[in-house]
Amino acid sequence: MCGIFGCVLHDGSQAALLIHSALKRLEYRGYDSVGQVTVDGERLTVKKDAGRLEEVDAKYHLDDMPGPVGVGHTRWATHGRPAHENSHPHVDCKNRIAVVHNGIIENYLDLKRELEAKGHDFLSRTDTEVVPHLVEEYVSQGMGLEEAFRKTVNRLEGAYSIVLTSVERPKMILCARQESPLVLGLGDGEYYCASDFSAFLPLTKKALILDEGEMAVLDPNGVRILKLKNAAPVKRDPITIAWDPESAKKQGFRHFMLKEIHEQAQSTRDALRSQEIYYDLVASKILSAGNVFIVACGTSYHSGLVGSLALAKLAGINARVVIASEFSDEALDLTTPKTVILAISQSGETMDTLNAVRDAKSKGASILSIVNVLGSTLMRLSDVYIGQNAGPEIGVASTKAFTSQVAILLRLAANIARKKGEVSTKEIGELEDALHKTPIIIQNIINTKLGEIKRIAEDCSNASSICFLGRGVNVPTALEGRLKLLELSYIPAIAYPAGESKHGFIALIEEGFPVIFVAPKDDNHRRLIGNIMEMKARGARIISVIEEGDEEIRSLSDQTIEIPESLPALVTPLVYVVPLQLLAYYLSIIKGHDPDYPRNLAKSVTVE
Ligand code: AGP
Repeated sequence: MCGIFGCVLHDGSQAALLIHSALKRLEYRGYDSVGQVTVDGERLTVKKDAGRLEEVDAKYHLDDMPGPVGVGHTRWATHGRPAHENSHPHVDCKNRIAVVHNGIIENYLDLKRELEAKGHDFLSRTDTEVVPHLVEEYVSQGMGLEEAFRKTVNRLEGAYSIVLTSVERPKMILCARQESPLVLGLGDGEYYCASDFSAFLPLTKKALILDEGEMAVLDPNGVRILKLKNAAPVKRDPITIAWDPESAKKQGFRHFMLKEIHEQAQSTRDALRSQEIYYDLVASKILSAGNVFIVACGTSYHSGLVGSLALAKLAGINARVVIASEFSDEALDLTTPKTVILAISQSGETMDTLNAVRDAKSKGASILSIVNVLGSTLMRLSDVYIGQNAGPEIGVASTKAFTSQVAILLRLAANIARKKGEVSTKEIGELEDALHKTPIIIQNIINTKLGEIKRIAEDCSNASSICFLGRGVNVPTALEGRLKLLELSYIPAIAYPAGESKHGFIALIEEGFPVIFVAPKDDNHRRLIGNIMEMKARGARIISVIEEGDEEIRSLSDQTIEIPESLPALVTPLVYVVPLQLLAYYLSIIKGHDPDYPRNLAKSVTVE
């Protein structure tokens, strides 16, 4: 999730100043690299590098670039680590076309090979760089810039918002989008494009939405919107933005956490977009390992637990999950050069996880990682990593990081299972189909269940404690629900494997004690009903997250949240966790806390 801003200003104006200030407002979207390009007649000026905006500005003086037309970019790396050559804008071979991009171009490797065969030189490891070279190719075949751009974009697969400027048409900016956001701003004879309203809100509140599969041409005459597939003009009325800059960053959501919960349909889709080649590399390491440890903390540890169960059930791989701060006691003696560590971390900077990785590395172990922040220490310590593509997660309570990690772990287990051939390709295929359906189900829950979840939060708000119970692959879901609730509402919450609850925890049950069951219709359904009966018999208030139409558990529960789709058991944590995230969010609000910055916590725990 990068930040993009472009502008076409009056002659004599200096776009660089405006771009620089807009990038400041977009830095929350991504901040590992920054770059700007301006066009002044035949002159294309590009300044870019890895680092925060103020660092790059101190080095390159971003305000000092000529020309009334330009584009800027703040990067959130998905392909290619933060480095000068990978930062945006990317240019063509003759430095006449410059492009910035937000999203993931899935077929970039094929396009890159095609263009290299035609003599194009690539400078970066990014997916984005194929765009200026492909446009250059079509322009060299005699096409006008607009048509060359449209033809290029129609060859891209994946999610993207792309903005191009060129000395071919120095007073023009071209942009297009598919899934990734891009909005247009209408000033007084000046025009803007940006990845969200916050970038141009101080300049104008008049905007145009660019829909999926559309491109726009910005020049001194105004803004034209065209259909990508056939260049048909699109008539659209401007809207007026009511938001202030701060809420614009949150895209109208009250908190970053709520925004990030709502982003999970997209972040899960993006998580599943990484190239298969990375999964093959990780899989081959795990398949040739002597032993495998999954190492992580907090929410990442919980997704590791789901991953370990999936690797065992689907691929017959014994991957032991270790809380990172316990690694040196629990696993270091078992670590050899044949050991593979799969470290999981949203930030890639969690000290406990890094210490475990460094300890294992000192024993010659191979380091694999699933990480959201590319360029982070963990990514750099890894032999192979899979990027989560979830975009910046600003809320301290991790949400979309969990679902994107689980999606990647399930895909990895399916990849290894296919290689091992112990599970039928039909079963693996069903799991992968279900995985790709989860973004729609997540969106459905968010669109239809908020009212019910708010009511349950109200009813639980005076509880002195709350317990989460699950079985099998949903023990981690119960643990994650508990973690969200306690770190946001400060209510002492408990989580247990439901079967284990009768060996102690049940002593706490008294009239009205809220017990939340994560209860999909899987092989554990029957046993879970037994656990519900045990709790109910002692007066517990039963709140169940169930599959829609599950009459049996609905009839036993005081309140239910129903998931509108039947799913293979291994995929259920990805979806059943969402109502629990929302429950914790609403309880935090009811309790008058700030869900984005809960007390005593930090987004990335960089101390031991
Ligand atoms: C989760 O909501 C917490 N913020 C915390 O437990 C977090 O998951 C943990 O610190 C691990 O962070 P990481 O994924 O960035 O390594």
